[in-house]
Amino acid sequence: MLTEVLPPSEETINKAAEILQNGGLIGLPTETVYGLGCDARNAQACLSVFAAKGRPADNPLIVHISNLSMLSDIVSEIPSKAKILMDAFWPGPLTIIMPKCDKIPKEATANLDTVAVRFPVHPVAMAIIEKAGLPVAAPSANLSGRPSTTTAEHVFRDLNGKIPLIVDGGACQVGLESTVVDATKENIVLLRPGGITREMLEEALGEPVALGKGVMEPLKDGEKALSPGLLHKHYAPKAEVKVILGEESKRCAFIREEAKNCARPCVLCMEQNRENFEGIPVLSAGNTPEEYAHNLFAALRQADDLGYTQVFAEGLDLSGVGLAVMNRVERAAGFHVITL
Ligand code: TXA
Ligand code: MG
Repeated sequence: MLTEVLPPSEETINKAAEILQNGGLIGLPTETVYGLGCDARNAQACLSVFAAKGRPADNPLIVHISNLSMLSDIVSEIPSKAKILMDAFWPGPLTIIMPKCDKIPKEATANLDTVAVRFPVHPVAMAIIEKAGLPVAAPSANLSGRPSTTTAEHVFRDLNGKIPLIVDGGACQVGLESTVVDATKENIVLLRPGGITREMLEEALGEPVALGKGVMEPLKDGEKALSPGLLHKHYAPKAEVKVILGEESKRCAFIREEAKNCARPCVLCMEQNRENFEGIPVLSAGNTPEEYAHNLFAALRQADDLGYTQVFAEGLDLSGVGLAVMNRVERAAGFHVITL
């Protein structure tokens, strides 16, 4: 199959909508990462998303909407705390898990009776969903296990030949996948931190929000994941990643020493620390935690492109978007975290 990469003109959006209506797959930009979209009501189309990504069958898809009236064909109930979060953060990078209704096939939700719903704020994503007039099931548009895709070129590299169309909306603003919360219990539980931070959720709800088990630490053998995605190895480049936490001077000294024993090391660090790593190639995490989020997946892919075998990633503290950055980079490192 020939994979076209096209700018988001009206013609492209019509084409994308038509492909979705006919049960096909497209790559589409969102404000978080690129998605691999299909008609969420079409069981066969959902199965082909799993096949294209090589996604484990037990990992459910997120269903994307472009207006609130679509919800009645997706969920059987809107819990009151879910409603508060929708009012505060939709459209935007927040995914809410609610009880599913029958029109969404079990192929979309990996047999769960709950469904994850997201209302993206990206104008191209909104236009495609609106034009197609159907809920779009879309996981991140990467091969399973690889870093998520934040540019159309990344999508092309992972999925060339497997899908007919990638709509190029430029680089994704947030750079990490949406925040995922479970709204099916009495209290909201945070299952995947993202651009909508834990602090923002707590402020909107007026109460503390618990982190799901397994979100910031590896699950122990036999422990059941609240979100199937937590079970799988994620975001990993081919290079070996280690996360280094602790006081800055110790961290820098440790990395400089370790790098001497590596064939092709590099450092992923904040711009202001670049000067501490003379002689070691630097992948820039930017100047702020938000920029680290925006740059992380592209940097991990770049490490492979440039042939580095070892990435020493600077850690952040867990406030604000730092929690999301650490959630992804620790998984990319297979939880290989060194605290000095
Ligand atoms: O930002 C995003 O959310 C992107 C863009 C494309 O919208 N999508 C995305 O999808 O990141 P994906 O499939 O890569 O991640 C979906 C996560 C997985 O960890 C999955 O296990 C979890 O959401 N999930 C989906 N449905 C669930 C459910 N019913 N219960 C628990 N977890 C669920
Ligand atoms: Mg993903």
